[in-house]
Amino acid sequence: MRVVIHGLTKEFVSGPKGEKKVRALAGVDLEVRDQEFFGVIGPTGCGKTTLLHILAGLEKPTDGSVEFVGDKRTEAMVSMVFQDAALMPWRTVERNVPLGPEFRKQSVPIYKRVTQFFLEMVRMLDFSGSHPAELSGGMKQKVAIARALANDPEVIVMDEPFASLDAQTRLLLREELLSIWEKHKKTVILVTHNIEEAVMLCDRVAVMSASPGVIKSVVTVDLPRPRGFKSMTNPDFVRCLDKIWDLLRYEVDRAMKENHPSRVEEQPAPRRKTIFDWW
Ligand SMILES: Nc1ncnc2c1ncn2[C@@H]1O[C@H](COP(=O)(O)OP(=O)(O)OP(=O)(O)O)[C@@H](O)[C@H]1O
Ligand SMILES: [Mg+2]
Repeated sequence: MRVVIHGLTKEFVSGPKGEKKVRALAGVDLEVRDQEFFGVIGPTGCGKTTLLHILAGLEKPTDGSVEFVGDKRTEAMVSMVFQDAALMPWRTVERNVPLGPEFRKQSVPIYKRVTQFFLEMVRMLDFSGSHPAELSGGMKQKVAIARALANDPEVIVMDEPFASLDAQTRLLLREELLSIWEKHKKTVILVTHNIEEAVMLCDRVAVMSASPGVIKSVVTVDLPRPRGFKSMTNPDFVRCLDKIWDLLRYEVDRAMKENHPSRVEEQPAPRRKTIFDWW
């Protein structure tokens, strides 16, 4: 499934009289190929999460369009993996995974089979009966990935899925995600702040400008697959890292200067939508 984004603009209006306006995206043009592992990187506040929310249908754009182009039309076009897993705490692992099939009222035997299949894929079958509070951060993220896959989407969007994990778990999960993607090719759009992560996982990486976000450049990662930890020793890996950082550092600097602390204090952090709003 190809994702064609054209002129995507988002303005948030808030405050009691609608007096506060934030331009989060200012005309994003992007084309993500079928089965591509596509990265998005950019300074904080540049609109990455907003972009993913629009793709997942959690927010409506102010202007512009998103088109999903492919032969198949599935019920679930896009699944989202959130930074904090966003599992339902009162449900066990095996009841968290089949949210999509359950929502579409698929029969119990079908969604049980799907759940088992994907829990096995992320190696979490032994924890089927556990509640999220009994799992480590990495395990929760694996369940969130299984839930996204169980929804059988054409496109998976991931918002810094490993950001809250320790460095080693992060490395392991990157490798697991890569091997799942190799087997189960979906179009993946991954937002990350980590340049190494972007280069290790992605076919191409879009670098966004400081707020309001536009796509500054798209870098092709010319590294052979399958990739893994050892890919980081490839000189092309370092070259690519360098190229992305060259593009990014100016934008990060600009975002830091513009994000004056007094401005941040004036605006309380907006309440983000979560899977629960969706559900
Ligand atoms: N619901 C909302 N209401 C008002 N403003 C919002 C809302 N959601 C996001 N924004 C604003 O839109 C801009 C982009 O936010 P967004 O969360 O998309 O950035 P981001 O690139 O994901 O940042 P980070 O890297 O820190 O996660 C920010 O200025 C943010 O304050
Ligand atoms: Mg974000």
